[in-house]
Amino acid sequence: MMLAVNQDRLHSEIEELAAFSDADPPAVTRVVFTPTDLKARAWMRARCEDAGLAVREDAIGNTFARWVGTEAVTSVVGTGSHIDAIPNAGKYDGVVGVLGGLEAIRALKEAGFRPKHSIELLIFTSEEPTRFGIGCLGSRLLAGTLSADAAKKLADNDGSSIEDVRRKAGFTGELEQVKLPSGYYKAFVELHIEQGPMLEREQKPLGVVERIAAPASLRMLIEGAGGHAGGVLMPDRRDALCAAAEVILAIEQAARSSGAVDTVATVGICDVFPGAVNSIPAKVRLSVDIRDTDLKRRDRVMTTLDEVCSAVSAARQVSIHSELVNADAPTDCAPALVATLTQICKKHGFSFLPMTSRAYHDSLFISRIAPAAMLFIPCRNGYSHRPDEHASPEDIGRGTLVLAETLATLAA
Ligand code: GLV
Ligand code: MN
Ligand code: MN
Repeated sequence: MMLAVNQDRLHSEIEELAAFSDADPPAVTRVVFTPTDLKARAWMRARCEDAGLAVREDAIGNTFARWVGTEAVTSVVGTGSHIDAIPNAGKYDGVVGVLGGLEAIRALKEAGFRPKHSIELLIFTSEEPTRFGIGCLGSRLLAGTLSADAAKKLADNDGSSIEDVRRKAGFTGELEQVKLPSGYYKAFVELHIEQGPMLEREQKPLGVVERIAAPASLRMLIEGAGGHAGGVLMPDRRDALCAAAEVILAIEQAARSSGAVDTVATVGICDVFPGAVNSIPAKVRLSVDIRDTDLKRRDRVMTTLDEVCSAVSAARQVSIHSELVNADAPTDCAPALVATLTQICKKHGFSFLPMTSRAYHDSLFISRIAPAAMLFIPCRNGYSHRPDEHASPEDIGRGTLVLAETLATLAA
């Protein structure tokens, strides 16, 4: 089979998709179920239908585009990623796995390949936690890691329930139907940018992911007492932002002193109320993201955080309420899929790095119900979740070629 990935077509589609954005270029903001996201989904569906794929959507908006195999009754070979983007993101996170997956399918079709197993491109809903506070919403529901009942309790920052938001977006089925039947996927392989610097540092064009790190996130509410910035004397203050500052630095310190570079912790949201220059902060909301490749070490940071909160709360006479959003276990990619990816890289003489994904991905949840693996390509300076995120057309093309051969091997 003579496989040729059309790098130009892929590159121009990545640029076209980036134009569906609520931020000025080069930044991309595409939050789930916004009008912009819905326009991008319609554009994606049209691309899939043009490629001769049968498209269906489930109740949460996960989109499945299927190339029906000659033995359509057997399990499916899946690939895909997400097209939602956090505020002020770049063009490549998720998109490379979606448009690369589509291009891999088109390359296989154009080479005359006929799959026995159906090959399915899956575009997951809301990999990013921006709107509903929890990442990988679509894949959690597909895997049953998040129940329909728990999902129904989610609301966005404006207080709109997920049920309202998804129905208004046109996804009117029942969330109970989203979970995939067991054995649905024979295998799932996701192509993604690395979102870190290792491939570039090691000068490797590809990364074969062996393990995906364990993410956890929490929401915290710190309540003190507000008041006049001039009138209230320092000994009388219960400043919620000063308490938050201590908590934030303690989180950083807990990660830094864990004994491993794999421990990372971030406070990415800090909302101050009432937010006036001459008013003592009465309330602060924080979002905390803690990750590690080692579950015990990740959980030790969480325990430390609990202890710090008790100490700060007592010392500063503030209340600290902490709500766990998610605490997921890490996963090992399926050894047989890792071996297939490795073998295809070697066959082409492409050097590669066996590696860990420190970012989370929908594959983490698909791995709970199917053999799953990931292939990484480099991104410049390791930058991701920022507008200057960049992956070269050559690297994207190479990753897509390896993906296409992997899908062919698995679907044969
Ligand atoms: C995914 O976007 C992550 O935050 O790892
Ligand atoms: Mn992301
Ligand atoms: Mn991603």
